Amino acid sequence: MATDFPDRLIRWHKRHGRHDLPWQNTRDPYRVWLSEIMLQQTQVATVIPYYLRFLERFPQLADLATAPVADIMALWSGLGYYARARNLHAAARTVMAKHNGIFPRDPAVIAQLPGIGRSTANSIATFCFGAVAPILDGNVKRVLCRAFGIEGFPGSSLVEKQLWTLATELMPARHGATYNQAQMDLGALVCTRTKPRCEACPLNDICVARATGRTAELPQAKPRRAIPLRQATLLVLLNGNRVLLETRPPVGIWGGLLSLPELPEGADAQEWAERQFACRVSAVSPAPTLVHVFSHFKLHIAPLLLQATPGHAVMEPECQWLYLAETGNAALPAPIRRILDGIQASGGKDDSGTIIKQP
Ligand code: ADE
Repeated sequence: MATDFPDRLIRWHKRHGRHDLPWQNTRDPYRVWLSEIMLQQTQVATVIPYYLRFLERFPQLADLATAPVADIMALWSGLGYYARARNLHAAARTVMAKHNGIFPRDPAVIAQLPGIGRSTANSIATFCFGAVAPILDGNVKRVLCRAFGIEGFPGSSLVEKQLWTLATELMPARHGATYNQAQMDLGALVCTRTKPRCEACPLNDICVARATGRTAELPQAKPRRAIPLRQATLLVLLNGNRVLLETRPPVGIWGGLLSLPELPEGADAQEWAERQFACRVSAVSPAPTLVHVFSHFKLHIAPLLLQATPGHAVMEPECQWLYLAETGNAALPAPIRRILDGIQASGGKDDSGTIIKQP
């Protein structure tokens, strides 16, 4: 394709791109891979402290592969999209078992590891091994749709196929790593979803969306379906300053994380809790409700505080009484942490308010 698109981006990146992010200036595939996974659906500023803590605890891929999955979940706690952490662990184990502990270099082989798609595999291969391999993450899709005036929702398979063809044609034979980073940086810093800074864009004189006044319409949004609302009553069983938490099954939302027990629909809280957790319950009171928005549904969480005295019978192994003060380092999803923080702040008393949290 006769275009100076890559050259413009590479030149722009030298002066205006990002050069000092913690995962740059290294060719260590473990570090680059970890950053790319954390950066999926998550902003750079959010990722940085998680990334640094993670590497401090697991400096090498082998450390990650041999760690208990609960430790990994604890370090991921609050970052969301927890399948990423489970896949990271599975992929580290696969590298140890199938590739003698050496991260593969071929993008097609990298893309077979759990949790690594074509774009992430190609980024790792360009950043670490100098591969000539295009990327197509959300930022790059936006830049391409605007610059080339591509219609349709870029997540649909038809448009995505068209974008991969375009990205492959544009990929330069040299400076692939700078070019790929430049596209990400342009999308994050200039060609932003809302209010793009077209005056600072190196493509502004060739951009179809700008020329036709359509930067607000391209890329086209996903055709919207109403997102369903789900309700859950979560039980906060308190015994003095201890709270009962249970490890959730490995699949489904918050798989493998610690959480508050969910009351089955229609069950009586006191009766159910006494039977389920071998305890006596003396008082039940509501705590403030909250709404948590996931990618495909909204969860309306109504916590119920139960003052409980543990009995002598043995509980299921996935249940544990944890001191509230210890929950700071536990592998908890963000809304559960907020509930527990609220309880600690109010000394375990109830009140009634509604906390609305958008992701
Ligand atoms: N988003 C995805 N990969 C990235 C990277 N390497 N740098 C900044 N943002 C990114």
